[in-house]
Amino acid sequence: MANIFPKILFVIILNLLLLFSQLSTAIDTITQYQSLNDGNTLVSSDKTFELGFFRPGSSTNRYVGIWYKNIPNRRIVWVANRDNPIKDNNSNSTMLVISKEGNLVLLTNNNQTLVWSTNITTQSLSNTTSHVAQLLDTGNLVIKDNNNGDQQSNNFLWQGFDFPCDTLLPDMKLGWDLKSGLNRQLTSWKNWDDPSSGDLTWGTVLSSNPEIVLKKGSIEIHRSGPWNGVGFSGAPVEVITSTIVITKAINNSDEVYYSYSLVNTSVISLTYLNQTLDHRQRIAWNLEESAWNVYESVPSDYCDEYNHCGPYGSCVHNESLSTCLCLDGFEPKSSQNWNTFNSTQGCVRKGEDTCGMNDNFQRFYGLKLPETKHTWVDANMTLDECKNKCLADCSCTAYSNLDVGGDGSGCCIWFGDLIDLKQISSFQQYLYIRTDDSTVAEEEDEDQQDFDLPFFSFSTMISATNDFSNYNKLGEGGFGPVYKGTLTTNGQEIAIKRLSGSSRQGSKEFKNEVILCAKLQHRNLVKVLGCCIQGEERMLVYEYMPNKSLDSFLFDFGLAKICGDDQVEGKTKRVVGTHGYMAPEYAIDGLFSTKSDVFSFGILLLEIVSGKKNKGLTYPSNNHNLVEHAWSLWKEGNSKELIDVCFGDSYILSEALRCIQVGLLCLQRHPNDRPNMTYVLAMLTNETILAQPNEPGFTIKRISTDEESTTKSSCSINDVTITLLDVR
Ligand SMILES: *[C@@H]1O[C@H](CO)[C@@H](O)[C@H](O)[C@H]1NC(C)=O
Ligand SMILES: *[C@@H]1O[C@H](CO)[C@@H](O)[C@H](O)[C@H]1NC(C)=O
Ligand SMILES: *[C@@H]1O[C@H](CO)[C@@H](O)[C@H](O)[C@H]1NC(C)=O
Ligand SMILES: *[C@@H]1O[C@H](CO)[C@@H](O)[C@H](O)[C@H]1NC(C)=O
Ligand SMILES: *[C@@H]1O[C@H](CO)[C@@H](O)[C@H](O)[C@H]1NC(C)=O
Ligand SMILES: *[C@@H]1O[C@H](CO)[C@@H](O)[C@H](O)[C@H]1NC(C)=O
Ligand SMILES: *[C@@H]1O[C@H](CO)[C@@H](O)[C@H](O)[C@H]1NC(C)=O
Ligand SMILES: *[C@@H]1O[C@H](CO)[C@@H](O)[C@H](O)[C@H]1NC(C)=O
Ligand SMILES: *[C@@H]1O[C@H](CO)[C@@H](O)[C@H](O)[C@H]1NC(C)=O
Ligand SMILES: *[C@@H]1O[C@H](CO)[C@@H](O)[C@H](O)[C@H]1NC(C)=O
Ligand SMILES: *[C@@H]1O[C@H](CO)[C@@H](O)[C@H](O)[C@H]1NC(C)=O
Ligand SMILES: *[C@@H]1O[C@H](CO)[C@@H](O)[C@H](O)[C@H]1NC(C)=O
Repeated sequence: MANIFPKILFVIILNLLLLFSQLSTAIDTITQYQSLNDGNTLVSSDKTFELGFFRPGSSTNRYVGIWYKNIPNRRIVWVANRDNPIKDNNSNSTMLVISKEGNLVLLTNNNQTLVWSTNITTQSLSNTTSHVAQLLDTGNLVIKDNNNGDQQSNNFLWQGFDFPCDTLLPDMKLGWDLKSGLNRQLTSWKNWDDPSSGDLTWGTVLSSNPEIVLKKGSIEIHRSGPWNGVGFSGAPVEVITSTIVITKAINNSDEVYYSYSLVNTSVISLTYLNQTLDHRQRIAWNLEESAWNVYESVPSDYCDEYNHCGPYGSCVHNESLSTCLCLDGFEPKSSQNWNTFNSTQGCVRKGEDTCGMNDNFQRFYGLKLPETKHTWVDANMTLDECKNKCLADCSCTAYSNLDVGGDGSGCCIWFGDLIDLKQISSFQQYLYIRTDDSTVAEEEDEDQQDFDLPFFSFSTMISATNDFSNYNKLGEGGFGPVYKGTLTTNGQEIAIKRLSGSSRQGSKEFKNEVILCAKLQHRNLVKVLGCCIQGEERMLVYEYMPNKSLDSFLFDFGLAKICGDDQVEGKTKRVVGTHGYMAPEYAIDGLFSTKSDVFSFGILLLEIVSGKKNKGLTYPSNNHNLVEHAWSLWKEGNSKELIDVCFGDSYILSEALRCIQVGLLCLQRHPNDRPNMTYVLAMLTNETILAQPNEPGFTIKRISTDEESTTKSSCSINDVTITLLDVR
């Protein structure tokens, strides 16, 4: 910057400085003959915003910035010289002035140094006009002709809103001025002591169907989804229907941008980039609490992260659990990778990719629309025309309406792989994906074979339970009552969990969750036979266990939310696993698989042998939990010590030791190392050579208010037969 202006200019300015009068009262304007010294501030006419000099955090550098005047804990919303700090400690020597050329310049004059400047490229000013810099009520610092009294006018010579920092204020534009090539995007601070440009950015990506993308360096973290006329397709419904802000997305031949305005202009709310979290957050000032409340933080979960499940993989997020599923009609590209949570390769279309007569489209609902980098749009086409357009081109993989308003209008077609799909509860937005007719029908059958998951009709449930009579009621848990029933068709005894608390859940979401549960439980514990969805009713149908299952006999052992036992955590819907049984990859990363289930089973085995419950257990001698204790005994060759004294001499030592070893094999840190349940069964029943276990992944210790006593033990386990294991 320092060499933009000839040195001679500063001599002239220095002479002029003598004429400058210093600002002392609250004003919003710097004129050609008034400087703003370090220590003084500009205040917008409605007193909302203030501009002045500040020192961020523990830095010794000084900057010119804008903040809300009346909010304590100053939050800087804009910085003029973020990449050109003032290093001069003498505040008397620092000032903002309008240069002879009409630019706003920041000088540390003892040093005759130009720190920062706007770059208006007018020739020298005529002697009847001059420039002024004004802080507007919007927080925008503008330079305009001194004859221009209009606050709203867009006829500014320069404006700070064109050079955003890490904050998008209401009515600021995030995006492109296509005429000038100006791209306004947010760039995070480097850290809280340093406003210089960090590596987190948020901006509008141009394409035929533009999106807003959050990036860290060159890596995409999250994209908004295309604008569908009502909202961004990836935004949760609460955001789209927000009563705080009105969102605007403009796309025409002059401009492509996003902006928002406040419904109630007395509310203070903004969007900024939080570089400690690598999140974009919307916050609002809470007057009563005198604090900023966060009400949107993106990405909000794993499924929000860009391309979490690979091409044609759909990410399903429930509570804190994120799971990748292949879209109907697609299968994992590499089932080996897919089963070990490496979903980067995503899924591929089942059947031949012939682009032939079989091709048809399957309608998907509640999906965030795929990335639009490779799309083609036409605002005037009908959906039928759109379909034909797509059919006519073998590289077209999907289509949808452009605008979901009214009956829907316009056409967007996708080419190539469909990337970054997420299941969301959002507006009616259908996506039509090219699939092979024959594989789709097949798929439904497979679903049911894979998961043994028939759907029961409500009338079947009614007749099985005598209209949910109290006589049939087995008990009541946090998710609702459980009934015993008998299927009239074949006399099979069933248990029906009627989920009271989940009625707000959509049927598709519920179905996914049940499928997930069925998959996870996969013949390990109580079998999920199916479910029933009718209106608001959501029911799970289990196999009935006459003598109670081993798990309920032991400790209320439970797995994922709805599959788990209600009693464990009372009436809270948030808990997705039973503390003490969670595999570390699940507890830490929210990843869950059948191998997490094996991990839980490993703990169960150790519990059976030791007669102690893992949850809340700490061995006083070494502060170990059950798993740590078992592992350290194993390493010492003292596994025998783990065996519950209650067993007396009623057991065969080699069998008990085998149980411990199998338990430890199940508990290995890496899910891949853990055996599958078939193999566990083989190891438990057959005299095969067992592998040496690797170090376990220790369960997460939680602070729990209901810690069990470490000494509590009971000898009732002898009564339990492990027949369950033989059945499964
Ligand atoms: C400015 O002041 C800081 C402490 O306030 C000091 O560490 C630094 O050396 C000073 N810089 C100069 C150039 O005097
Ligand atoms: C700044 O100026 C004031 C008076 O104008 C003076 O009292 C003070 O000593 C000066 N400070 C420095 C660091 O020069
Ligand atoms: C101006 O300040 C810079 C940074 O403090 C210093 O490196 C430079 O020598 C100074 N120049 C003059 C002419 O004082
Ligand atoms: C003005 O400065 C901005 C960044 O500070 C830069 O992007 C832009 O190209 C400059 N314009 C001119 C005309 O120099
Ligand atoms: C305005 O500037 C022109 C040259 O740029 C000069 O001839 C004229 O005298 C000036 N007028 C006044 C009133 O200073
Ligand atoms: C965006 O604007 C461009 C230029 O007017 C147009 O070609 C394109 O179809 C528009 N896209 C959408 C999604 O409206
Ligand atoms: C706007 O917000 C202010 C401050 O929160 C509140 O006092 C006022 O009632 C709101 N106005 C409306 C119309 O909601
Ligand atoms: C960024 O997020 C962290 C963690 O939630 C929070 O502590 C911090 O205050 C946030 N930063 C700002 C500027 O709000
Ligand atoms: C996931 O699979 C891909 C393709 O096989 C491979 O390149 C990548 O390294 C794997 N990632 C991890 C974390 O294993
Ligand atoms: C779409 O229709 C509108 C009005 O019917 C028309 O003005 C416009 O030119 C059409 N655009 C295209 C690309 O056909
Ligand atoms: C279970 O593991 C064994 C041994 O690793 C393997 O041979 C078998 O194919 C696996 N079974 C399943 C269903 O994955
Ligand atoms: C036990 O081993 C025998 C022979 O190796 C095999 O036939 C049988 O299937 C095994 N049992 C189980 C439950 O794996």
